[in-house]
Amino acid sequence: APAVIVAIDGPSGTGKSSTSKAVAAQLGLSYLDTGAQYRAITWWMVNNGIDITDPSAIAAAAEKPEIISGTDPTGPTITVDGADVAGPIRTQEVTSKVSAVSAVPEVRARITELQRSLAGSAEHGIVVEGRDIGTTVLPDADLKVFLTASPEARAARRSGELKGSDIHQTREALLKRDAADSNRKTSPLAKADDAVEVDTSDLTLQQVIECVVTLVEEKR
Ligand code: C5P
Repeated sequence: APAVIVAIDGPSGTGKSSTSKAVAAQLGLSYLDTGAQYRAITWWMVNNGIDITDPSAIAAAAEKPEIISGTDPTGPTITVDGADVAGPIRTQEVTSKVSAVSAVPEVRARITELQRSLAGSAEHGIVVEGRDIGTTVLPDADLKVFLTASPEARAARRSGELKGSDIHQTREALLKRDAADSNRKTSPLAKADDAVEVDTSDLTLQQVIECVVTLVEEKR
């Protein structure tokens, strides 16, 4: 079969990562978590004393870190200048700062180039998850899926992931990040016109996975 390119976009807490990984594993495709790349560059900025309230400082540093993503869906990896940052990129500090860093056009240009190169070199194809994959990064993807869910469902999932967190606080932080991602000028979070929208609020993860696998198989 020819390589198949699948774009999965949507706000946080819709089940994007779990779904994308499982679909890729089930179909023998590569997997790319583009949020992890934006988190990695944000982690580097924070660690190198870049003032993240200053877009020109972020822009000037955008090319500096070397970011490498491993695309095996059963064990995706991410390194910055050779260091494994899979843990550190999930801290609350990085999560609260990533929208500001990812809004800077120079950062997006840099990361988008990495993403296109990885997608182009995936032998059997790839599932790429993010916010602007169907609209900007891979507009010619074979299948575009846009996952949504109610704010309540999304906050509940995120709180479940972050042990001991307060659900109301989680909900507010999540809505704030989505608003920032949706309202930025350069390739905001958006559904592509030709994306299939799936509301996951009342679906189990298994049901979402089956739905997306069926959609991919229809395109093959
Ligand atoms: O998916 P995740 O929550 O890990 O993404 C972290 C952040 O990375 C998002 O809130 C957004 O600011 C940024 N991002 C982006 N474009 C993508 C993927 C993620 O701007 N394609």
